[in-house]
Amino acid sequence: MTAAERIAELRAEILRHDRLYYVEARPVISDRDYDALWDELVALEQAHPELVTPDSPTRRVGGAPIEGFAKVRHDPPMRSLDKTYDKGELAQFDAFLRQQLPGETWDYVVEPKIDGVSLSLLYRHGRLVRAATRGTGEVGDDVTANVRTIRSIPLAIPCDAPAVEVRGEIYMPRAGFAALNRAEEEAGREPFANPRNAAAGSLKLLDPREVARRPLDAVLYAAGALEGIAFATHTEMMRAFAQWGLRTPPWQRLCLDIRQAMAAIDELETLRHAFPFEIDGAVLKVNQRALYGRLGSTAHAPRSARAYKYAPECARTRLRAITVQVGRTGVLTPVADLDPVPLAGSVIARATLHNADYVREKDIRVGDMVEISKHGDVIPAVDRVVPEFRPAGAAPFALPARCPVCGGETERLEGEVATRCVNPECPAQRVGHLQLFVSRGALDIAAIGERMAEALVQAGLVTHPLDLWGLDPKALADFRLAGDDGTERRFGKKAQEVAEALERAKTLPLHRWLYALGLPGIGLTAARVVAAPFASFSALLGDPLFRDVLDFYAATERKTDDRDLLAGEIATRAEALAARGLVLRDDPAKPFRKRFLLTVKPEMARTMARFQASDYARRLAARLAALGIDPKPVEAEAPKGGALAGKRLVITGTLSQPRETFERLIRDNGGTVQGSVSKKTDFLLIGADPGGSKYTKAQALGTPLLDEAAFMALLGAGAETAATPPEAPEPAPAGQNPPAAPAQALIQDDLFGELP
Ligand code: IVH
Repeated sequence: MTAAERIAELRAEILRHDRLYYVEARPVISDRDYDALWDELVALEQAHPELVTPDSPTRRVGGAPIEGFAKVRHDPPMRSLDKTYDKGELAQFDAFLRQQLPGETWDYVVEPKIDGVSLSLLYRHGRLVRAATRGTGEVGDDVTANVRTIRSIPLAIPCDAPAVEVRGEIYMPRAGFAALNRAEEEAGREPFANPRNAAAGSLKLLDPREVARRPLDAVLYAAGALEGIAFATHTEMMRAFAQWGLRTPPWQRLCLDIRQAMAAIDELETLRHAFPFEIDGAVLKVNQRALYGRLGSTAHAPRSARAYKYAPECARTRLRAITVQVGRTGVLTPVADLDPVPLAGSVIARATLHNADYVREKDIRVGDMVEISKHGDVIPAVDRVVPEFRPAGAAPFALPARCPVCGGETERLEGEVATRCVNPECPAQRVGHLQLFVSRGALDIAAIGERMAEALVQAGLVTHPLDLWGLDPKALADFRLAGDDGTERRFGKKAQEVAEALERAKTLPLHRWLYALGLPGIGLTAARVVAAPFASFSALLGDPLFRDVLDFYAATERKTDDRDLLAGEIATRAEALAARGLVLRDDPAKPFRKRFLLTVKPEMARTMARFQASDYARRLAARLAALGIDPKPVEAEAPKGGALAGKRLVITGTLSQPRETFERLIRDNGGTVQGSVSKKTDFLLIGADPGGSKYTKAQALGTPLLDEAAFMALLGAGAETAATPPEAPEPAPAGQNPPAAPAQALIQDDLFGELP
């Protein structure tokens, strides 16, 4: 079989399994077998880039970050729906239709009204060519790159019509929303108010790779432009959608008259909380599409459909106390203890208060009468205080100064809403730390899953991840773990896999170990940066570098009138740091610091300096020494998931740092450096005065260009899950003319360029 044939076969197979898994929810192969198909396809496409097509399933993972969204004009416009809360108005709607359509008969379809974000998908000759948000209804945003990452949306459908525009709703399933919000809170970011905001926010991310990680889903329930195809009824159209592999509303009722429709609307209300998405009402549609044209539409909505909104659900109760929980990453979360009250199908006694800012802004005090609702239909939350019922003497709330679990210090990082316990040995963080430690990007002890990690900590077998090396293999094999179905199973043969992984881990590179320590703000990318200058873990521990970096930042911030003096000092320090592989980087948000930012950001340096000075580091060092482990950087390791994985880059022009520094960064992020531009070159990294043959050749071939800022942004964007992901500056346009001025010139020249 030729590569092209095998590629076609793999794609078809993967598409079939995607559909079974994402659309029909009945997978027929294991994740592992699916991954094997996937890996084979990726490998073949890498070996034969000429065979890559835009509808290959591998193209879903998200391309490079984009600058902004192009505008799309909707034809016909994406209208909204007239809504009512009143059944009487539905009867009027029916009467109005009968008056408009004398002598006609029709039926109604009732569907859930999904509370998400409207979306238009355009398929031309069966290929997904464009996805757009509703926007104003006339003009929306082109979000094709982001939408391609949503697995339940097929990139191709078996329909050759010149144009099929399907419309529907993008939503975030409740479970995914709850998980995303937990992660957002643990990362110190503001959680999303509800799944709709989370879905809308996700669709508008500029980095499709980030979107790919968001749990988005879609339901398609309408058509826009149709060329070369027509449907007599809505139900017929829904059947066709489903046959093409498009997800349609999971619940629909065909009703012969308005009475039946009202009964269906009531039935749907009882099922309201049974769907994986939030619904805020029912949609009543005329089934006969031929009548739509005759009914026409208002500027706002078609006359052939109505939305019936269910009453929002909330309850009042008394706030008895505020307790503070410490999450797996050390984040302190205030939680409301409530007088139990029924709400949307369950009895609520506790509700989240998110973070200290939220409590202060809403002025929530112990003793208050509060209104609660379920955010995303799942997470009970306190929405507001009913001020009339505040008891005398109720005092404002403040987070405790120390961790309620370990009594350790807490800290709130700049730009975060979360306050964290900074004690790396806090018992509340044990499970989280172990889970991070064994994860793929860290020390990759795959046999220990999330649940096993939790069980090991709960059983008291592991207090610190290094305890893994001390576990008795026999005891580990006999360890019993409850599975999904609740039955307990011996850990058995997996104990051997753990032993092997622990041996392998001893030789893993320094940055993986640093990441595995779970220090605040040291994600995988940050770990690569801070590990870069050191020969080993023990060398890192005693080195004054991070104090130097902090001094460097302090110097750039220091108020002095003598600019030359300051400039000189900064230049000397920057040079010394550069010699150790630390690169300068731009921060467009902070003009004063422009030109002086290092890949090592002050927060990272602070964390590292604090770690170095801690008792914990000393104990850790002793234990590592006892185990014979002293992690070293491994030059050759090309991190598979690096931001430049598999990419070929060529460098030209004058950069702000020695060329070797950039070459190293490229290699550290999984890319390769080439000497000259060819068809296979992915990017040309250009400094000042590019000129020369590389530049001309790249222009001739249309090779995308990266200036330093765009290059750094690309590295930042590839950052894997970090406690605080590194902020990526806006990417500069690639693939166009080189920037008039280099993004970063030599430090001395540009020092005060931005100052008045
Ligand atoms: S039909 C001409 N069906 O509700 C508009 N809309 O409040 C065609 N929506 O903009 C809409 N579920 O985004 C239709 N089953 C459903 C729906 C639905 C949610 C949204 C849609 C619309 C909004 C109006």
